[in-house]
Amino acid sequence: MQILTKSTQEIKEHDLVLKLMPMPSDSNINGHVFGGWTMSQIDIAGSILAAKIADGKVATIAVNYIQFKTPILVGDLISLYASIVKTGNTSITVSVEIYTQKRPFNHESVKAVEAKLTYVAIDKQGNSRPLTSI
Ligand SMILES: CC(C)(COP(=O)(O)OP(=O)(O)OC[C@H]1O[C@@H](n2cnc3c(N)ncnc32)[C@H](O)[C@@H]1OP(=O)(O)O)[C@@H](O)C(=O)NCCC(=O)NCCS
Repeated sequence: MQILTKSTQEIKEHDLVLKLMPMPSDSNINGHVFGGWTMSQIDIAGSILAAKIADGKVATIAVNYIQFKTPILVGDLISLYASIVKTGNTSITVSVEIYTQKRPFNHESVKAVEAKLTYVAIDKQGNSRPLTSI
């Protein structure tokens, strides 16, 4: 079986890290998806890329910015893309964008949310550690 790998450079450019569909239990009374549910997915998506770069565990230290541009509805197909904004001694700042596709699914995707989060590489004790794998 062929295993496809991506270089760090490719990851740094952009990465589709998560694709999922919100369910009725994720919505508010307007039928829109809860902002909190969306933020949770953004945190997960950002951490996936940050953990790759850190080559280990990371903790979220800050949500620097988030903007909800268009509502996400139950049944939308949502794709979360992440890219590295910058790396520091222990920290990795990640940009996450969500694009939605409405039913019936076609090729048109709309940017629904953009966010920027900072993660810190941590060791087994939960203390910050210098980045080693960039
Ligand atoms: C993550 C943690 C171990 C870091 O502790 P620390 O090393 O003492 O933190 P520091 O203040 O030295 O900051 C570490 C890095 O984060 C950066 N940072 C700190 N606050 C920041 C902020 N508000 N925005 C952006 N970056 C920030 C620092 O600049 C530093 O970056 P650098 O090492 O690349 O220069 C600690 O803050 C912690 O455990 N926080 C709770 C994490 C958590 O529970 N998250 C939610 C669940 S994952």
